Amino acid sequence: MQEHILQFIYLVASVTFMIGLKMLSKPDTARKGNLIAAVGMGLAIFGTIFLYKGSNGEHLGNLIWIFAALIIGTGIGVYMAKSVQMTAMPQMVSFFNGMGGACAALISIIEFSHLEQSGMEVHGQHLLIILAGLVIGSISFSGSIIAYGKLEGKIGDYNLPLQQVFNLGLLGAVLVMSGLMIAGQISGLSLFYSILGLSVLYGLIFVFPIGGADMPVVISLLNSFTGVAAACGGFLYDNYVMLIGGILVGSAGTILTVTMCQAMNRSLLNVLVGNFGGGGTSSGGAAKSGGGIVRELGASDAAILLKYAKKVVIVPGYGLAVAQAQHACHELETNLEDGGVDVKYAIHPVAGRMPGHMNVLLAESNVSYNKLVEMEDINPEFASTDVVLVVGANDVVNPAAKTDPASPIYGMPILDVENAANIIIMKRSMKAGYAGIDNELFYNPKAHMLFGDAKDTLTKLVSEVKAL
Ligand code: TAP
Repeated sequence: MQEHILQFIYLVASVTFMIGLKMLSKPDTARKGNLIAAVGMGLAIFGTIFLYKGSNGEHLGNLIWIFAALIIGTGIGVYMAKSVQMTAMPQMVSFFNGMGGACAALISIIEFSHLEQSGMEVHGQHLLIILAGLVIGSISFSGSIIAYGKLEGKIGDYNLPLQQVFNLGLLGAVLVMSGLMIAGQISGLSLFYSILGLSVLYGLIFVFPIGGADMPVVISLLNSFTGVAAACGGFLYDNYVMLIGGILVGSAGTILTVTMCQAMNRSLLNVLVGNFGGGGTSSGGAAKSGGGIVRELGASDAAILLKYAKKVVIVPGYGLAVAQAQHACHELETNLEDGGVDVKYAIHPVAGRMPGHMNVLLAESNVSYNKLVEMEDINPEFASTDVVLVVGANDVVNPAAKTDPASPIYGMPILDVENAANIIIMKRSMKAGYAGIDNELFYNPKAHMLFGDAKDTLTKLVSEVKAL
């Protein structure tokens, strides 16, 4: 009976994962979707702890250890999630993903040790799953930790001579050793641990040379690895909820990786070996000096332009997140709306540093979801827009993506802000963004720079608009 209840719980949990994932694709349902999937995961965990029976008919033991780990892990997770800055979110995702990879690898280590101790011959399909979980999980673990270090600015970009050849050699060695073990040609605990060591090393040197700025794509790729490694655990234990959860994470991570590459118009290979925007952990270095005149304006002139416009489109970017300017931005929006101005937000798919960065940020300050307009829908509207306010965005509004075939961002779909009647660009300097390139928009005769920290300038704009 208990076994049937447990299977039913697993079925319910699997359905909640799918519903949750579906709801995560829209900003207004994402929060609820996350909660629904978390409840499903909780059901699966507690169902397993209390209802699972092993082949000997006994329930799980070691309950004190299990609950101690649950309490400590939950405490750390809640603390990290509550205290993390929005700009540090990619690091946290990377760290959590690394832990997932480590867990998947640990499952393989424990299962292999059990089989060795039982004196059974271990090879074939069973060993294939154990080794796949070990290799993929440990690559995901070590790679994610390096990605975390890079995003924290603690680890630089290292490129060894013949790096790619060395990487391929290492991966080849792991695959050959695993293949021979599965075929029953070689065996033993020390060989198993050698495969583990080489996989961890591969994860490290696979991520080391990739530019710090490309880490969100790498994290998403490693996320899909963790999903596959967890699915191996599901195979191993014949546990459908683990299998389904792993497959969902694996496929969602893969789709996200592909979507990010498409939105930047870059191939995955280019991200992995291309070192685009390399070294940047924040917002890039100085742009090479561009041609043309840069026009500046003050907060009071900008406020007049905004207040007397009919239609204003705000383009949020990474700088908005750095400045934590979302609340000031929302305040400006409501003040303008109260004065009869139609205000919308233009959301580029890779604005910021992680998928959905701008949506999450603006949702935090209660911006209404129907004001957030996707790139394809807002682009035709710029021609009828009086003022575009670019807040800490750079690459996503760079016309070089359309006009300069030599530009590294050529072909990347961008927001057509140059079609608006007036463009106000808020940033601190003339420095480049993530791609490290100059932006010809800054020299457009319709464009005016409003220099300063985004939060300070927006706060000034709010008081100027109120005073008019
Ligand atoms: P960026 O091109 O990086 O530009 C951000 C700008 O914000 C910088 O030029 C910087 O100029 C300004 N800034 C920084 N701090 C500021 C502050 N406190 N106040 C005001 N301005 C500030 O950002 P974007 O336009 O959002 O483009 C995102 C980039 O990230 C794209 O190239 C994209 O391909 C890449 N990327 C995104 C993702 C995802 S999924 N979002 C994933 C991988 C890569 P100053 O220093 O002069 O202030």
